[in-house]
Amino acid sequence: MNKKIHNIYVRPWWFALCLCLLVFLFFPFSSFAEEKKENRYMGSDSCKPCHETQYISFKSYARKSRSFESVRKMKKGLTEDEIKECYACHTMGYGKPGGFISPEKTPELKNAGCEVCHGPGKIHIETEDPAYIIRNVTINICQGCHIEERVQAFRYKPIIYAGSH
Ligand code: HEC
Ligand code: HEC
Ligand code: HEC
Ligand code: HEC
Repeated sequence: MNKKIHNIYVRPWWFALCLCLLVFLFFPFSSFAEEKKENRYMGSDSCKPCHETQYISFKSYARKSRSFESVRKMKKGLTEDEIKECYACHTMGYGKPGGFISPEKTPELKNAGCEVCHGPGKIHIETEDPAYIIRNVTINICQGCHIEERVQAFRYKPIIYAGSH
């Protein structure tokens, strides 16, 4: 009788303990591996050391490089939520992993920059491997922000090289 109780009540605890130990042992490894692979947005300034020509031209001529200013100028009278709607197009990677969070937390991502067209650059910067950055920028990428509604309102359609560098 005693032995039966022992089997039923003690063994599950023993298994549970083993399981917890396993989880604790392997969790740090798996999360570490994921973190290493994870791409994120770095900001246009981080591209400057290796692509100075594109950087200077973009900073000098593209309005994107000052797109946060447009939101700042117009935010009077808007609610917090309405301002956050602007972030989807006027900042870099808002709502995406490793993207803009707030001007205080991620100041380097507050303007729409290189990576809105070329994709997040962390792995490309670390490896200097062109395989990890988007070279073939397509009009689909532009249309994420230059949506039909806006195109009609501004009577202008983006062409692939305009507004880049
Ligand atoms: C540490 C240096 C370095 C940094 C920083 C860097 N790149 Fe590069 N990039 C390279 C090298 C090297 C190549 C490949 C050689 C080449 O084509 O000029 C390259 C190529 C590219 C290409 C062309 C890809 C192709 O298929 O030919 C693009 C687009 C690009 N980089 C964008 C960026 C963007 C955007 C950033 C910032 C987020 C950035 N790079 C930051 C070194 C860098
Ligand atoms: C769907 C993407 C999108 C959203 C959301 C968005 N914008 Fe824009 N905004 C653009 C684009 C694209 C342009 C460039 C002009 C164009 O459409 O041709 C622009 C241009 C502007 C300009 C400059 C207009 C000019 O001609 O000088 C201001 C100011 C502006 N936006 C403010 C805002 C504010 C404030 C919000 C939030 C209430 C907002 N935008 C939300 C995409 C967006
Ligand atoms: C509005 C979109 C857009 C933005 C913003 C943009 N690019 Fe590009 N980029 C392009 C397009 C389009 C190409 C041409 C790709 C092709 O040849 O098919 C390109 C090509 C490149 C190339 C390959 C060499 C060349 O000039 O063709 C590099 C390097 C590059 N971009 C870096 C950058 C950097 C650095 C920034 C920010 C300072 C940036 N880009 C911002 C759209 C953009
Ligand atoms: C993440 C959203 C986003 C994407 C993606 C995007 N744009 Fe824009 N673009 C903007 C915003 C926002 C502005 C307006 C900036 C301002 O005036 O505040 C703008 C402005 C422009 C302008 C106005 C002129 C200038 O010099 O800045 C052109 C042209 C343009 N974009 C072309 C393109 C093209 C071509 C692509 C795709 C290759 C593209 N954009 C992708 C958000 C985007």
